[in-house]
Amino acid sequence: MARSTTIHVCSACGHQEPRWQGRCPGCGEWNTLVEEAAPQASPGGRSRGLGAAGGSGGGRAVKPVRLRDVQSPRVARLSTGIGEFDRVLGGGLVPGSLVLLGGSPGIGKSTLTGMAMGNLAGAGHGTLYVSGEESAAQVKLRAARLPGAALDVPVLAETDLDTVIATMVAERPEVCVIDSVQTLYASELNGAPGSVGQVREVAGRIARVAKETGTAVMLVGHVTKEGALAGPRVLEHLVDAVLQFEGERERTYRTLRALKNRFGSTNEAGVFEMRSGGLVEVLDASGRFVSEATRAPGSVVLASMEGSRPLLVEVQALVSPSELVPPRRMVNGIDRNRVALVLAVLARHGGVPTGSADVFVNVVGGVRIDEPGADLAVALAVASAVRGASLGGDSPQPLACFGELGLTGELRSVGHPERRLEETKKFGLRTVVAPEGSGPGAVAVGSLRAALRAALPPTRARAAEAA
Ligand code: TYD
Ligand code: MG
Repeated sequence: MARSTTIHVCSACGHQEPRWQGRCPGCGEWNTLVEEAAPQASPGGRSRGLGAAGGSGGGRAVKPVRLRDVQSPRVARLSTGIGEFDRVLGGGLVPGSLVLLGGSPGIGKSTLTGMAMGNLAGAGHGTLYVSGEESAAQVKLRAARLPGAALDVPVLAETDLDTVIATMVAERPEVCVIDSVQTLYASELNGAPGSVGQVREVAGRIARVAKETGTAVMLVGHVTKEGALAGPRVLEHLVDAVLQFEGERERTYRTLRALKNRFGSTNEAGVFEMRSGGLVEVLDASGRFVSEATRAPGSVVLASMEGSRPLLVEVQALVSPSELVPPRRMVNGIDRNRVALVLAVLARHGGVPTGSADVFVNVVGGVRIDEPGADLAVALAVASAVRGASLGGDSPQPLACFGELGLTGELRSVGHPERRLEETKKFGLRTVVAPEGSGPGAVAVGSLRAALRAALPPTRARAAEAA
């Protein structure tokens, strides 16, 4: 029996309205009303207040179990056959779980899930690929480019939620991909596919089926660069894991990160490269980035951490005089507010003002760095660009660094200094400017000023300062 009515519920205060309104009459917030399927009237009526049945509401009391006595069976994880993917998932897919894979269009979500499904099918697991976005023929075209058993995966090109769920229940796949959650629609809601209400209903019902049938479901969701699109964001609390696939579409490197994971750490990240035959895991990312690093002014190697793994990346800066007020700040692969802060500290405490210049900062290779340890690299790259001098003087290797900048110009320690130093040693980088207490082998400095002195040739630096 199809439910014919829907209600609109305010996502801020819970107020209910029969029709959509721009402003919630309950709390006065704008654009908070979201369409939901109306709850089916239960025979006992709606009132479940304290007054009913002596306050018990008719429920049956259950004896809570002490945590110590709770049975927790070890679940066998399903390996996607992609090491980096498994690691980010916390050791593979958990049966009955719901994983949301977010990322901007064209980043490679369908490729990644297609490859994983191919490997799972090849390993004898039951799979189902639901494509609401592309026709079966289009999915086949992609699969034909992928290695392994990608062509053995059963595909369902469908956007009607009821059909998808019925198929899932009938087929009982061990792993199911929904590509994408924004394209499915529940017929009882009037909202367009991809609207908040639809996305929530779709994910909610699929989650119930997943739990009941033990199917591991990967929900693909589009997110815009700003994460602005309402879709996937509203699902974060509903799913077990949220993975973000990011990078620049035009570049080859992509990182896969866990933003939330009920079955593993959120510190893990995997690096991939998009090739003509699908995504390839990049296991020696540091080596690649270091060998590509230039020794030109404005370039420095950052010893960063991608989750529990050290990663060496090149950070580049370009500073050019500007007539614009305010001057341009173009940033790629790093938080622009963080760069603004570093520029302010650099001007105030490092004697390197950039107030009348355009500043461009880029993390090479399309990698995104999301940690405070990148501060020093940005500062050194900008200072080196301003002064037109290579960091590290005449050394043939690029200079490496890491460290967080405080607002008073001090250099603060960051996590895992020993792993970062080990990685720089492994790739033959001899000079590493790092916060004090980072361990042997580093050029330990306590402030931005000291770091600049250590990294830039003193004669030229002094000349530039005098100028
Ligand atoms: P896709 O997985 O469709 O991205 P999404 O699902 O996130 O929107 O593919 C992204 C791009 O990758 C697409 O422009 C084509 C390219 N690509 C390759 O370079 N090599 C390949 O083997 C495949 C399958 C795709
Ligand atoms: Mg896609």
